[in-house]
Amino acid sequence: MSCIETSHLSKSYGSVFAVDSLELSVQSGQVFGFLGPNGAGKSTTIKLLTTLIQPTSGSMSILGIDAAKNPLQIRHKIGVVLQQPSYEPTLSVEKSLDKYGMMWNVPRNERKKRVEQLLFDFDLKEIRKKRNEDLSIGQRRRVQVAREFMHDMDLLFLDEPTVGLDPKARRNLLDYLKSKVKTGLTIFYTTHILSEAEYLCDKVAIIDKGKIVTVDTPDALKSKFGNKKTIKIHLNDERKETVSLLSNIEDCKIDFNNGTDIVIHSEKPGYVLLQILKILNDEAIEIEDLSAVPTNLEEIFLRMVSQNAPDHQISK
Ligand SMILES: Nc1ncnc2c1ncn2[C@@H]1O[C@H](COP(=O)(O)OP(=O)(O)OP(=O)(O)O)[C@@H](O)[C@H]1O
Ligand SMILES: [Mg+2]
Repeated sequence: MSCIETSHLSKSYGSVFAVDSLELSVQSGQVFGFLGPNGAGKSTTIKLLTTLIQPTSGSMSILGIDAAKNPLQIRHKIGVVLQQPSYEPTLSVEKSLDKYGMMWNVPRNERKKRVEQLLFDFDLKEIRKKRNEDLSIGQRRRVQVAREFMHDMDLLFLDEPTVGLDPKARRNLLDYLKSKVKTGLTIFYTTHILSEAEYLCDKVAIIDKGKIVTVDTPDALKSKFGNKKTIKIHLNDERKETVSLLSNIEDCKIDFNNGTDIVIHSEKPGYVLLQILKILNDEAIEIEDLSAVPTNLEEIFLRMVSQNAPDHQISK
């Protein structure tokens, strides 16, 4: 079943199109990743889809409901964690969760149960009595995400929920989200941390300057991109001739080079690696480090965004 459908959805601010004729189709029961650089239009899209702002033009249907006709009906069925921090400074962690449940008319007994479960799931037990204003940034973010699970919903929008979280809390949250998707929740998830999208998302849309550049599964994106492996070389010393020697190797696409660090994409990494080692050995160029890894989403993303905007420089 389709959960989100948009048609020519646009939002402009003055002459800037923050979202430009967006055509989205998100199926139920999956995590849909929405990736893009700063200012790409991710948060604006979330605000449109959650009916918090009005589109300049275009239409959308959320959970089968026409957003122009029944925005309130949509809001009752969705959850949203916006990018901006939102909390009541003097409330304790447990009271924040409880109050959020009250706002959603969750019965008292059920609230009590959910608060305990979420304190446990989000590792907040030790700080349950602390006031929001006294929490660290990551702790506060965890509370902000946790409280959204005080109520039932069919569709959840998360705008960069892991910003400020340490690696353990981050993984914990991603696994928690995965478990919720298994029970039928659909998640629309923005991030620019691509390894997260790879770990979590069933489908990924890359957006830049308000337009979708591509939509696919993380795996299909990798194979569509073609370059199977990324070879990274770190040399002890800068030698001017290195790059021109390496660029003569067949299927050896040099993507980055600053003299000592060289990044290469290749579809024949075994052959290319042997040739690189041979050349560096013949020329007595010392290698500090050499690795070959499957091309990840990060590289695909940088490439696509840079193709979309020729003035955008790829940096390492
Ligand atoms: N209320 C507003 N008034 C004017 N311009 C806005 C407004 N909100 C967003 N924009 C502009 O719209 C564009 C998209 O912004 P948006 O916040 O959606 O980007 P984003 O992809 O969420 O970026 P980030 O990764 O930094 O969160 C930007 O150019 C931004 O300056
Ligand atoms: Mg944003």
